[in-house]
Amino acid sequence: MKVLMINGSPRTDGNCARLLDEATQIFTSEGVEVVRYDVGTKDIRGCIACGGCAQKGECVLGGDVPALAKELASSDGMIVASPVYYASPNGSVIALLDRLFMSANCDLRMKVGASFAVARRAGTVASFDVLNKYYTINQMPIASGRYWNNGFGRGKGEVLGDEEGLQNARFVARNMLFLMRSIALGKEKYGLPNTETVKRTNYIR
Ligand SMILES: Cc1cc2nc3c(=O)[nH]c(=O)nc-3n(C[C@H](O)[C@H](O)[C@H](O)COP(=O)(O)O)c2cc1C
Repeated sequence: MKVLMINGSPRTDGNCARLLDEATQIFTSEGVEVVRYDVGTKDIRGCIACGGCAQKGECVLGGDVPALAKELASSDGMIVASPVYYASPNGSVIALLDRLFMSANCDLRMKVGASFAVARRAGTVASFDVLNKYYTINQMPIASGRYWNNGFGRGKGEVLGDEEGLQNARFVARNMLFLMRSIALGKEKYGLPNTETVKRTNYIR
């Protein structure tokens, strides 16, 4: 089994990284491979609505997005951790996720998603909701914890003092592992849910 982790922070050793580390320990102790991608200070531009991915099968703006889409295709679950900037996930991670999910040319159904938001003080719940929306539009069940997955801290590593936030990250990882394993068994026994041709009415009647 494999989990793709995306750390949206420009600080690759900041507080988001610490929450992801906590989850990583659970996964690796259970034999789950973890692939970590750091947005870091990379120059990631947003989706330009060119529709090129529909033709080419991958994001035509390139960068790391096509490789990440392949990583996502072969993963059983993904976790995104983002710092809160002005009560939202930071801009780079949103630019990346817009392009990744728009261009992902694979069956995302039943891959398990989770997200963490880290802030000094406020905006974690709003950011958590934004991140989870990438999953809920793609038939991806969400692994939850014992709170709305947040961590608090400002300076690098301050989140290590947030015992509840760290513990919650461990709960999320264990629940995610349980879901991924259950889904693997369910797929073997029942297969993926039936599908149908997707209607896109754009509110035009
Ligand atoms: C541009 C910017 C905007 C921020 N906005 C918020 C905010 O709205 N609410 C908050 O509590 N913290 C805010 N912060 C603080 C970060 O969320 C906090 O330092 C967090 O720990 C960063 O995570 P990281 O160490 O993984 O980068 C902001 C920081 C920056 C640089």
